[in-house]
Amino acid sequence: MKNSIIVGLFFLYLFCSSISFAEDKIFIGSEACKDCHEQEYSNYMKYSKKAQSFESIKKMEKKLTPQEYQSCFECHTTGYGKKGGFVSQKETPQLKDTGCEVCHGPGSLHAESEDPDLITRDVTMENCNTCHSKDRIEAFDFKPLLFGGAH
Ligand code: HEC
Ligand code: HEC
Ligand code: HEC
Ligand code: HEC
Repeated sequence: MKNSIIVGLFFLYLFCSSISFAEDKIFIGSEACKDCHEQEYSNYMKYSKKAQSFESIKKMEKKLTPQEYQSCFECHTTGYGKKGGFVSQKETPQLKDTGCEVCHGPGSLHAESEDPDLITRDVTMENCNTCHSKDRIEAFDFKPLLFGGAH
């Protein structure tokens, strides 16, 4: 009897901790990284076209149907279609560009705790493939491409 209560409590604990984990890890936008990562932030704002990626689609909005326009969000914003990701320019203005978190993953827990284990450091080519065509990536060396797109 006692054992089954302990086992039950253990699973309850696992259940609750996995829920709170999933709930808390959301996208917060590049601006939120600025104070602690000034160098990366200013390089990104200055040199990465990603920092203006919403402008690119905004310019074309009038020529597109609403559905076509929406299809651009997948690559030109941060976390569209994912939990805690971009919804619309009005509701989630902080996520409208392709920000830090498209490579480093949702940063809310890391930004609160400053724990490096709660953010992705090792970004791989697989990640780039979700938005960039393979051919295009292979046409560059990985390293320059990496820093060209980031900081
Ligand atoms: C309140 C301060 C703070 C905020 C906000 C913050 N970070 Fe950090 N970050 C840190 C600290 C501290 C470290 C650990 C630095 C070290 O170990 O040299 C770190 C480390 C990292 C690392 C390296 C992780 C590793 O394993 O080495 C990455 C990547 C990173 N942060 C990305 C981000 C991104 C993206 C954001 C915004 C979504 C962000 N950080 C917001 C404080 C912060
Ligand atoms: C969520 C989608 C997304 C992911 C993931 C992504 N990119 Fe991009 N990237 C874009 C978009 C969108 C642009 C174009 C922005 C514009 O011009 O409007 C871009 C632009 C670039 C550019 C053009 C040069 C510049 O100054 O920005 C490079 C280089 C680049 N990305 C490299 C990378 C690399 C390397 C990775 C993987 C580590 C990566 N990107 C991951 C969406 C993405
Ligand atoms: C599958 C991901 C993806 C989707 C969906 C997407 N884009 Fe892009 N877009 C990119 C990437 C990646 C780049 C950067 C290309 C590069 O420099 O290699 C880019 C670049 C651009 C540029 C800048 C071109 C330049 O030369 O600076 C414009 C404008 C643009 N996209 C508009 C749109 C519009 C409008 C839509 C929706 C109809 C859209 N994109 C949908 C990934 C995407
Ligand atoms: C296109 C993908 C991409 C984007 C966007 C991006 N990063 Fe990174 N970031 C990387 C990669 C890849 C590394 C690992 C570099 C290495 O291994 O030396 C990295 C490393 C880091 C580190 C670890 C310390 C360092 O410089 O090596 C921090 C902190 C960091 N990024 C913060 C940010 C912040 C803040 C932003 C947004 C302002 C951002 N990154 C945007 C790909 C990206």
